[in-house]
Amino acid sequence: MRAVLVVGARPNFMKVAPLMREFAKRGNVETLLVHTGQHYDENMSKVFFHDLELPEPDIYLGVGSGSHAEQTAKVMVAFEIIVEKQRPDIIIVVGDVNSTLACSIVGAKLHVPVAHVESGLRSFDLDMPEEINRMVTDILSSYCFTTSPEAETNLLKEGVGKERIFFTGNIMIDSLRYLSEKADRSVVLKELSLEEDDYILVTLHRPSNVDDPEELRALFDMLVRLSARHQVIFPVHPRTRKMIDSADPPFDSAESFRMIDPVGYLDFLRLMKTAKMVITDSGGIQEETTVLGIPCITVRENTERPITIEVGTNVLAGTTPEKVESEAMRILDDGIGDHGIPPLWDGKTAERIADVLEKEFI
Ligand code: UD1
Ligand code: UDP
Repeated sequence: MRAVLVVGARPNFMKVAPLMREFAKRGNVETLLVHTGQHYDENMSKVFFHDLELPEPDIYLGVGSGSHAEQTAKVMVAFEIIVEKQRPDIIIVVGDVNSTLACSIVGAKLHVPVAHVESGLRSFDLDMPEEINRMVTDILSSYCFTTSPEAETNLLKEGVGKERIFFTGNIMIDSLRYLSEKADRSVVLKELSLEEDDYILVTLHRPSNVDDPEELRALFDMLVRLSARHQVIFPVHPRTRKMIDSADPPFDSAESFRMIDPVGYLDFLRLMKTAKMVITDSGGIQEETTVLGIPCITVRENTERPITIEVGTNVLAGTTPEKVESEAMRILDDGIGDHGIPPLWDGKTAERIADVLEKEFI
């Protein structure tokens, strides 16, 4: 089997690494790793190849940033040339970023079967660019690999045939489990002078939270207030950094509120593992904190990952700063109730996906 695997943005690397490792182990899949270049800063891209033991990409498309249409179109034009030339048996895309959408459209139009890993998630909020990416990718995919039971229900409702749906579990958790011990050796806590269980880890990058300077200021002020309770450590996504740097007047800060550049996977996993609490609008971090049993407050009005709330440690707080603050205080005081780990978030998802593909193609 000849497979093209696509990565483009930060949350893609940890979803593709386990598959690359599994295919290499089996030795019966010829892989071509294509990096679209949607994310390109060293700490948004290169660091993950090292941390996740991911081989260098075979092809780098270097599309960079742009409007949605521009970025998607640039990936499509460059990727079409690769697919025409390589004629793979399958194209494997992950997640819900613009690169995922672009490459699935190219594959479908060139009649190359597309496999979507992390299929069927829905926020039911079309204001999110990712929701559009998910819906289009799923409808075009011949293999929809899902992370949780409700994903299958979502897909069936949209007309995806049952024979295309495979509940194989959460591949991000393969990376988390594989690298958990290695992350324990990270010295990031020491470098940042943080004490275990005495800091709040924050990430924010959703356009709905960070693109409006005044809304971002209000969230920022709330985080500064929370830092009176526990030190706040905030690795800042480049989209958010741009907004913070251009704020006029500059945002107020505090000594116990610390912004740093985005960190690599191992350092971030180490930071999550002993955080008092995580406050985020990330998709993947809702899942990782669920498995780690760390309280997570999600700064969004909805989530495409409801299972993290039903069985896990996630609390959907909305985006109003006062509400987020009161939820944070409540959890800091009372902790979270019983929680568990969703089925098949066990570190063996790549194995199950490879089994399905092997049966079909080899
Ligand atoms: C993208 C994904 C989002 C995902 C996020 C993960 C889409 C539509 N969005 O959002 O689903 O949750 O990645 O992090 O695909 N930038 C840099 N350096 C980089 C990358 C980006 O400076 O390496 C800056 C640029 O100013 C760019 C902005 O960040 O315009 C946004 O980047 P983009 O890839 O368009 O979207 P993200 O917000 O990163
Ligand atoms: N992450 C990281 N360093 C950081 C922030 C996040 O390694 O500074 C990891 C995080 O552990 C998870 C992934 O990046 O594996 C999530 O990516 P992101 O939040 O950018 O995207 P989303 O999941 O929202 O699409």
